[in-house]
Amino acid sequence: MKIAMIGTGYVGLVSGTCFAEFGINVTCVDIDKDKIKRLKKGEVPIYEPGLEDLLERQIKSGRINFTTDLKSAVADADAVFIAVGTPPRVEDGHADLTYVHEAARQVAQAMTGYTVIVTKSTVPVGTAREVEKTIREANPNGDFDVASNPEFLREGAAVNDFMRPDRVIVGTSSERAQKVLQEVYRPLFLNETPIVFTTRESAEIIKYAANAFLATKITFINEIANLCEKANGDVQTVARALGLDGRISPKFLHAGPGYGGSCFPKDTLALAQTGQLLDARQTLVEAVVESNANRQRAMAQKIIDAFGGDVNGKRIGILGTAFKPNTDDVRESPSLVIIPILQEAGADISAYDPAAIEQTKRYITAVDWKKDPYAVADKADALVIITEWNEFRALDLRKISEILKEKRLIDLRNIYKPSEMEALGFHYVSIGRPEVKGQKAVLKEVSAG
Ligand code: UGA
Repeated sequence: MKIAMIGTGYVGLVSGTCFAEFGINVTCVDIDKDKIKRLKKGEVPIYEPGLEDLLERQIKSGRINFTTDLKSAVADADAVFIAVGTPPRVEDGHADLTYVHEAARQVAQAMTGYTVIVTKSTVPVGTAREVEKTIREANPNGDFDVASNPEFLREGAAVNDFMRPDRVIVGTSSERAQKVLQEVYRPLFLNETPIVFTTRESAEIIKYAANAFLATKITFINEIANLCEKANGDVQTVARALGLDGRISPKFLHAGPGYGGSCFPKDTLALAQTGQLLDARQTLVEAVVESNANRQRAMAQKIIDAFGGDVNGKRIGILGTAFKPNTDDVRESPSLVIIPILQEAGADISAYDPAAIEQTKRYITAVDWKKDPYAVADKADALVIITEWNEFRALDLRKISEILKEKRLIDLRNIYKPSEMEALGFHYVSIGRPEVKGQKAVLKEVSAG
C-alpha cells in the first residue's frame, strides 16, 4: 500500500507520519522547498509532543519520504490524501478552497491506474463532489474515486488522537474506494475502533457538526459562568454537576476566555456561512460565533475592571499566549485580542509563554518578553493567566505575591483555588466564581501583627 499526502501542515504531517507507523509507504508533498528540506532531516516545523520521535523512527524505517514533486509521489499511489489549508476567505468567512482544487488538478494529471483521492482537510459539504468534477475535467479518462475522510485530531495531542481515535469517518459510495480505505486503516479495524462508512456529504457535515457542537458546549458554559458571576454561583461546581449527567459528559465544559485556534473559529464561521448559502440557517452556531468574539473582548474589560476601571501606566504581566497549552499556535488566541486592548488602554505588557513567544511576535508588538513566570511577575501591578500551561499550575505563589507590586492575579482558566488565593492575600479574579478581594489576608496580617 502506497499513499501520497498533499500538504504537510498539522493534519498532513501528523496523518502522514502515523500512516507510516501503520506500515504504509507514505510520500508527503509540499510546495515549500525549505520545509521539505527540514522534514527530510527529521526537523518538525510545529510544536507537537511526540511527533519528532515518531517521525525520526519512520524516516529510519524508510517508510516516509518528503518531496516537492507531486507528480512522482502521486504516480504509483493507491490513495492520495489532500490535506492542504482551507483558510477563511477574508471577504465572507467561507472556507477558501483554492488550494484544494489546485491540488486536485495536479493530482488528476499525475495519477496512473485506479486512485482514491481523499479529502482530509476540513471542507464544506459538497466539496468532494466538486473535487471529483475538477479531476474529471482535468483527466476525463482517469480511473478514480473521491472520498471524504475528515480528521479529528487536536493540536497538542495529535499523535495520540490519530493512533487512538474515538472513531474514523469514511465518506464514499464506491466499494472499491471503501476497500482501499479499509486497508489504509487496517490497524484501527483490528483494534475495533468504530469506523463509520457513510456518504461523502454526511462525512463532510459530521466534521463541522462535531467542531461546532464542541464550540457550542464551551460557549454555553462560558455564558453560564457570566450568570454565576452575577448571581454568586460557582461555575466549577455547576460544570462538574452538569458533567455527571452521562448524557452531557464533563468534557469541553471548562469555562475560560473563549475558544481559539485554527479550527473552531474557522469552522463555526464556515458552517454558519454554508447554512445561509443553502437556506438552512445555523442560528445557534451564528450565536456561538458572536458570543465567543464578544467574550474575548470582555476578558480585557474584566482585567481593566480588576484595576477599578483604569490600567493607564500599569504594568500587566501575561502568562500564556498560545490558544491552549502544548502548542505554539496563537491563531485566534484570546491573547491576541486581550493584549492590544490593554495596550490601547495605556498598560505596559510583559509576557511569557513556554512555546509561543516567536509566533506571538508575528501579531503583537511592544511586549516586554520574559524568560519565566517570575520575571513577568516582578514589579508588575497584576499577573494574568491566559493559557493553562502545566508550568503555571504549580507556581510558587508566596514568591509571586512578594515580587508583584500589587497582589493582583487574574486567572482566566480557573487553575487556582479562591480560598488559597485569599489566604495569600491576593486580589484574585477568576471565571464564574466569587471574586476574592484580598482584605481577609490583610486583616489576618494585621491581627497577627
Ligand atoms: C479541535 C477539535 O477538538 C479536534 O477534534 C479537531 O480535529 C480540530 O479542532 C480540527 O478541526 O482540526 P484544537 O483546535 O486542536 O482541536 O483544540 P481543542 O483542544 O479542541 O481546543 C479548542 C479551543 O477551545 C481552545 O482555545 C481551548 O482553550 C478551548 N476550550 C476547550 C475551552 O475553552 N474549554 C474547554 O472545555 C475545552
